Amino acid sequence: MIHKPSAPTPMKGILLAGGSGTRLYPMTLAASKQLLPVYDKPMVYYPLSTLMLAGIKDIMIISTPLDLPQFKRLLGDGSQFGVNFEYRVQPTPDGIPQAFLIAEDWLQGSPCALALGDNLIFADHLGVSLHKAAARPQGATVFAYQVRDPERYGVVSFDETDRALEIVEKPTNPQSNWAVTGLYFYDNRVLDFAKQVKPSARGELEITDLNRLYLEEGNLQVERLGRGCAWLDAGIPDSLLEASQFVHTIQARQGMLVGSPAEVAFRMGYISADHLKDHAKRMGKTELGRILFDLASAEEKDN
Ligand code: TTP
Repeated sequence: MIHKPSAPTPMKGILLAGGSGTRLYPMTLAASKQLLPVYDKPMVYYPLSTLMLAGIKDIMIISTPLDLPQFKRLLGDGSQFGVNFEYRVQPTPDGIPQAFLIAEDWLQGSPCALALGDNLIFADHLGVSLHKAAARPQGATVFAYQVRDPERYGVVSFDETDRALEIVEKPTNPQSNWAVTGLYFYDNRVLDFAKQVKPSARGELEITDLNRLYLEEGNLQVERLGRGCAWLDAGIPDSLLEASQFVHTIQARQGMLVGSPAEVAFRMGYISADHLKDHAKRMGKTELGRILFDLASAEEKDN
């Protein structure tokens, strides 16, 4: 019997937006960190835009039992952005790779990207890198960014030929300044690998341990985000403020939006100009609404 090669399964995406947010107390005592504002949008819009920019249309949002209803209220079923949202609860914050175990029945053997709800990435031509990562048939892709304080993150070091050598979670003596960002792309073996991860000394499943499994079999691609890119982890008051300032600066100076799922949906062809206009009208008299409305009108004029 001849087996025809089957079409590759489209990549799904998980947006992980639970956690405890203790470093943002008291702001997060009564509100989810990922719903706090980053300038003019809820934080979760930024990683959501990134997943959508990678061409991912099936997205599961995972949050705490208390916060999940608020995410549903904000994001709905995804039709406002021409995509599909699923929701699941993470009862307790037992670690990032647990997301794959929670999503097991929904994943159905698909490759899957994971975006942390408090990580913001801005880069020129980001869409191209993301599409490449999403299209890689085997292995995992992570993005690394040079930071001053690598000991706060998972750190990747490289050999002389620039191949990833080692990846260590919050090292006391970091071997490089390259932190692994909160955006990961995995092939369809991710669930099997996630099941092999054991809790660390702090009692959590660590994403670095999952990435190490790919590294050890020579299948971890590390894309380095260079000068001119920005990666912000908005988990502490300073970085939350910096993220807002960054978005404000770009939007005010260039008149272009950063982290708008509606804009991404429109540019990716997931929603029409009319749909975008309706969405923009729902944003009331905001500057965000005005920019989206103008974008839809400009497109209609061009056609
Ligand atoms: P962290 O910032 O490491 O943890 P946290 O959000 O609980 O905050 P704090 O350290 O201030 O208490 O989490 C990174 C991202 O991953 C964040 O968006 C929350 C999310 N997350 C979960 O959703 N579930 C989890 O089990 C963990 C560990 C993190």
